[in-house]
Amino acid sequence: MNKSPRVRGGPLRLRDENQSDGPGFFRHLERDFKERVEFFRVFIREPTHVGALSPSSRSLARAMIHGLALKTADTVVEIGPGTGAFTRFILKRIGEQTTFFALELNEAYVHSLRMRFPELIVYLDSAEAIPQYLNRHGKQAAKYIISGLPWATLDASIQERIMHAIVTSLAPAGVFTTFAYIHALWMPAARRFRRRLERCFERVETSPVVWNNLPPAFVYRCSQVRHTNP
Ligand SMILES: C[S@@+](CC[C@H](N)C(=O)[O-])C[C@H]1O[C@@H](n2cnc3c(N)ncnc32)[C@H](O)[C@@H]1O
Repeated sequence: MNKSPRVRGGPLRLRDENQSDGPGFFRHLERDFKERVEFFRVFIREPTHVGALSPSSRSLARAMIHGLALKTADTVVEIGPGTGAFTRFILKRIGEQTTFFALELNEAYVHSLRMRFPELIVYLDSAEAIPQYLNRHGKQAAKYIISGLPWATLDASIQERIMHAIVTSLAPAGVFTTFAYIHALWMPAARRFRRRLERCFERVETSPVVWNNLPPAFVYRCSQVRHTNP
């Protein structure tokens, strides 16, 4: 990982386990299509909360969890799972002993996540409530917090409250990952968000650009909390 996004595909251009010919391939196409339609339907109703026209790609999902030891993690939290673009990958990789739950604010998404992933624990609540849910699971901190939130479209005050919940919930050796779209990098909201990350964390690394995502994006990987007042 680098300090700034690099413009090349690099190690993220792995072959997808779902990229095969045969009936399985068509099932995935059908599932992808349904997910896109569902995602877009909610976007029409709540554009600021959703913040994207379509779900993240598998390449971005892989970049989000790249280098995370999910198998041995004690606790993993996902915030803003939407239709489950990252959730599917996380569920496949966590260990049997891992406590994993997600917080999603949209009721329709929560309903479809529960249908699609019966093993998933997902709460209809805001990411601001991470500490309360950790508490409910008898945990003090999370090793990994994985975010699909549309930071650039969230109010500054909500951003601040969620970031406070994240930095106070992360274990000392924990990692927080989130993503940003490259076309929006120059926008004041995106630059404010980057400054907020740098205030909160000693280390803020960025992945190479994931071109195979609509729109292209990159991942922020943050660790070593330095400030709990974002
Ligand atoms: C850009 S979508 C990303 C969905 C999915 N992670 C993906 O990458 O395809 C953002 C998601 O964050 C959810 N969201 C927005 N604000 C939230 C909040 N305060 N707490 C939890 N989820 C929130 C939205 O409902 C939406 O599902």
